[in-house]
Amino acid sequence: MDIRRLADFAAKVNIAFPTAEEYGGLSGFYDWGIRGSQLKKNVKDVWWRYFVERKDFVVGLDGSIVTHPRVWEASGHVEEFHDPITRCRSCGRTFRADHLIEDLTGKSVEGASLEEINKILSDLRCPACGGELEPATYFNLMFETRVGPYGGITSYLRPETAQLIFADFPRLYIGNRKRIPFAVAQMGKAYRNEISPRNFLFRLREFEQMEIEFFFDPEDDACPFYDDVKDYEVLTLTVEDQENGRDGEVRRVSEVVGDYPGREWMVYWVVESLRFLELVGVDMGRVRIRQQLPDERAHYSMDTWDVEFRFDDLGWKEIEGVAHRSDYDLSRHAKYSGNDKYRIKREDGTEFVPWVIEPSFGVERVILSILYSSYREDEKRVWLSFKPWVAPVQVAVFPLVSKDGLPEKATKIRDLLRRFFRVEYDEKGSIGKRYRRQDEVGTPYAVTVDYQTLEDNTVTVRERDSMAQERVGVDDLVDYLLERMSW
Ligand code: ATP
Ligand code: GLY
Repeated sequence: MDIRRLADFAAKVNIAFPTAEEYGGLSGFYDWGIRGSQLKKNVKDVWWRYFVERKDFVVGLDGSIVTHPRVWEASGHVEEFHDPITRCRSCGRTFRADHLIEDLTGKSVEGASLEEINKILSDLRCPACGGELEPATYFNLMFETRVGPYGGITSYLRPETAQLIFADFPRLYIGNRKRIPFAVAQMGKAYRNEISPRNFLFRLREFEQMEIEFFFDPEDDACPFYDDVKDYEVLTLTVEDQENGRDGEVRRVSEVVGDYPGREWMVYWVVESLRFLELVGVDMGRVRIRQQLPDERAHYSMDTWDVEFRFDDLGWKEIEGVAHRSDYDLSRHAKYSGNDKYRIKREDGTEFVPWVIEPSFGVERVILSILYSSYREDEKRVWLSFKPWVAPVQVAVFPLVSKDGLPEKATKIRDLLRRFFRVEYDEKGSIGKRYRRQDEVGTPYAVTVDYQTLEDNTVTVRERDSMAQERVGVDDLVDYLLERMSW
């Protein structure tokens, strides 16, 4: 499968398409159609339920997108959140310098200094016109905005959802009457002025994140759920594997995560992340965890494991990062805000600044890997094999023909099912076409009302992947579907 074809298909079935196509679009911005907006909501709902509602020690936050600009100074984003950019002296095209080098030489320069990048760049030419390239400089990825009239003040659209969880920590901690360890989750829009947005939903300028900041005491860091995660196995690629040119191997997560305060929790968050991805329908045969190389890590990170997905055409790509951020964030906010509310007193009277582990998912990248994992085609049809809990429509209801009282009976069944599921009613076109239309958007079950229904109050339930049909009594229908659609 190539990503272009998937993008065309997603546009055709109203999942996502370039924004304002009639005006030529705007690179890095997508609009979510009637299927996609529901799909996105479902993925976010499952994430929220999995990570927030089902865990006693996790609470939610919905912080603002624009906030006090000092927050972004404290976070390090004003100073450090940049990528190297270069421009062609002849045609004026701009490129993200590290990606250009990767594309032209096949070698990764993640984490290389500007000097090293420029040394390589001086031997390369513009791929579009063959012109000479300017030396690279750093380009900050935050979108600036003005707040207030008469010029106002300069602030930024948030480049990650995480930061207000740190800045607001004193209120979140005290306000929730929580004890360490505890975590705060947040999802929502984030904005990055990416130099070269590309690959459909993979690199956008406006996207959504689902992030958790988990706070713990480095001197009291045992994870009570460790037994449940310690044997989980997955394809792993450590720093050592990468330095020795090895491909990595299937190992227990607990075998590869480093030896530092919070180690057990790091294992916990990596494994829980993988379980979540499996739950929403990501093909685990295409997933690995890769430890970031020391040069590659963000300014706040002391160790990061990326969860990566293998695309046939793009290779391994990051879907989520689990970063060990030590006390970087809260110490910075303590310093920049000038107050000591970011410190916590232990029972023995000593004080500490909590350490942080952060699992950070991009919603669109999760959806891209779900789409990639779910796409199926054969001679007869194209379908998306979505898990029922993420499918935009869960049950389609059809009258076999639109006469003889069948639509009336079918709409009654539709109304009953709507109390429990996302239901779509369709009476237009042949039954075969109606099945195909639902298959294309991944609807797992279709209920057909026919003449027999009027006699014995049973319907046909068709399952999307196998196309197997079963006769089910209307009185049992809700239970029948609930059993198959709960996780
Ligand atoms: P990359 O190296 O691919 O730019 P990143 O390391 O900058 O990614 P993080 O800063 O760790 O990404 O962001 C956390 C998560 O947010 C990523 O794992 C990804 O899922 C998502 N994300 C980041 N940047 C983008 C983007 N431009 N478009 C879509 N999703 C993104
Ligand atoms: N919060 C981690 C990141 O988006 O970079």
